[in-house]
Amino acid sequence: FRRSCGSSKCATDVEFILNPSAATAWSAVQRQNGRSVGFVPTMGALHDGHMSLIVNAKSANKAVACSIFVNPLQFNNAEDLANYPRQLAADRESLERVGCDMVFAPSEIALYANHGVLTYDLNGLDKVMEGASRPGHFQGVVNVVERLFHYVRPNSTYFGEKDRQQLAILRHVANALKWPVDMIGCPTMREPNGLAMSSRNMRLSGEERQRATVLFRALSSIQAASTVASLKAAKHSAIEMILAHPGIKLDYLETVDPLTLQPIMEWDMRNEAIAMIAAYVGKVRLIDNITLRR
Ligand code: PAF
Repeated sequence: FRRSCGSSKCATDVEFILNPSAATAWSAVQRQNGRSVGFVPTMGALHDGHMSLIVNAKSANKAVACSIFVNPLQFNNAEDLANYPRQLAADRESLERVGCDMVFAPSEIALYANHGVLTYDLNGLDKVMEGASRPGHFQGVVNVVERLFHYVRPNSTYFGEKDRQQLAILRHVANALKWPVDMIGCPTMREPNGLAMSSRNMRLSGEERQRATVLFRALSSIQAASTVASLKAAKHSAIEMILAHPGIKLDYLETVDPLTLQPIMEWDMRNEAIAMIAAYVGKVRLIDNITLRR
């Protein structure tokens, strides 16, 4: 994703903004100049998955902003929040290289100033899978995304499909509240061995990284089996595959409806489902998913 640039000027191209109202002003200037704003919200510790979101945003917009903010509201575990990787200087360099125009990195106080934490109607989408394992997580995500959108005012935003439940919930809220922003889902980026790219992978040892590849193998096995068997049978053999694997603690593996996120066992009249998995590899909790089509 390296940006081709012959001069040292490129290193100063990205605008680095801490102040929320300065982010709004930046966005207004872009639009006054006829440039649509594409926005990639992140919590930093950027990897090639994030870079692909920026590349997608750049292909459809004249101006691209990325936020870096580790949102305490979406962590229900203090240790997880404390251990979340932070590497602002390296992230800034990656964003410069890929040609991002603006980085918004507000402080917690500035972002949430004069704004209580709101409770959104998530239509039960937050009660299953990640939501069941991490109570309050999605309310925290929606709160921060609303604040980021409020300040950055993007035309379109780009989210990774790895966080499929997050994307479904944000799309639901955006529709219900008529947020004037396009929500674009982008394919999960994977390591050559299939491991879904994630900032959390940094916390895996070499051996754990290898072990973690069983998540994608299990999802791929469901994908293959579900074309000839029921979703229930396909899921069952994938669970056995994980349980036979030492050092992996399965949290959930579900086959669900893409919109309601409710478990489905048979194809019935459907043509599409999603297999979603969460598991601990050592101390690190990883998630992944795959689309199933019959
Ligand atoms: O997907 C993430 O990195 C975060 O949940 C998001 C959307 C940036 C909100 O903090």
